Amino acid sequence: MEELERSARALVAPGKGILAADESSGTIKKRFDSIGVESTEENRRAYREMLFTTRGMEEFISGVILFDETIRQSNADGVPFTKLLDGAGVISGIKVDTGAKPLAGFPGETVTEGLDGLRDRLAEHHELGARFTKWRAVITIGEGIPTQTCIDANAEGLARFAALSQEAGLVPIVEPETLMDGDHTIDRHYDATRRTLEALFDRLFAHRVDLAGTLLKTNMVLSGKSAPEQAGVEEVARWTLRVLRETVPAALPGIVFLSGGQTDEAATAHLSEMNRIGDVPWELSFSYGRALQAPALKAWGGKPGNLEAGSGSYTPDMERAA
Ligand code: 13P
Repeated sequence: MEELERSARALVAPGKGILAADESSGTIKKRFDSIGVESTEENRRAYREMLFTTRGMEEFISGVILFDETIRQSNADGVPFTKLLDGAGVISGIKVDTGAKPLAGFPGETVTEGLDGLRDRLAEHHELGARFTKWRAVITIGEGIPTQTCIDANAEGLARFAALSQEAGLVPIVEPETLMDGDHTIDRHYDATRRTLEALFDRLFAHRVDLAGTLLKTNMVLSGKSAPEQAGVEEVARWTLRVLRETVPAALPGIVFLSGGQTDEAATAHLSEMNRIGDVPWELSFSYGRALQAPALKAWGGKPGNLEAGSGSYTPDMERAA
């Protein structure tokens, strides 16, 4: 347990966050389609190598979440990615759920699968060098949803995943994502997020999960993506801090946010505002996928000659270009 707690704290060390590079085969294809690049195993490998060899990455990135294919891949010189990252002081993690599937009897809602055979897969991932895991549950806002049945089914799955991860010596990142899709007002997003987090911590407690060796990855509280009125930066920060203070025990070392379809700039501004307001018992950081990768993906464009550009230094122009 002590080692788990040490790793959990290292992942949210002040000034550092997590890079989510665990896109499943379907999701990475969508990202590559957006830049007109074919999703072959070699292209996926080369793209991830570019991300993982970004100069100075270890100053700001504590850990990287990998996909099952990626944790078995190596750089062009044959050094396994897990070794490469470890050498730079970056912790390897792995996404272990097998996706959100339609919840029988509940149209428009999903439950995340992946518990079958999980104990064996976790042992293998630990062997391959992973020290933390991730499981994402998806909660959708719509007419009459989310239902409590959907929230409870997902919370139970997250808690069983977390308990199994800790048994295998891996820090679980529990990720309930209440989607920003829809035209709802910010208070509906708050309400759905609150119900989701309440159920999650109830089940984590019931399954005897050690919170000090666990991290929460969740959504910020936002206006629906297609809502005519959009809450401002300070409003988003205050609603998000409110829901977290109301539901997340202080024993948890840190909370990392997903970007969830926000622009890079919005995701950054919201997190920065929350840290400015502060006064919370946990570290607040990021575990962005799209908000960290968008400019690099675009700069790379699938061309080996652009590897340098894709892993070069950050400038605000890159945000605008993306
Ligand atoms: P986004 O930041 O692109 O939402 O991805 C984070 C993630 O890991 C989703 O599971």
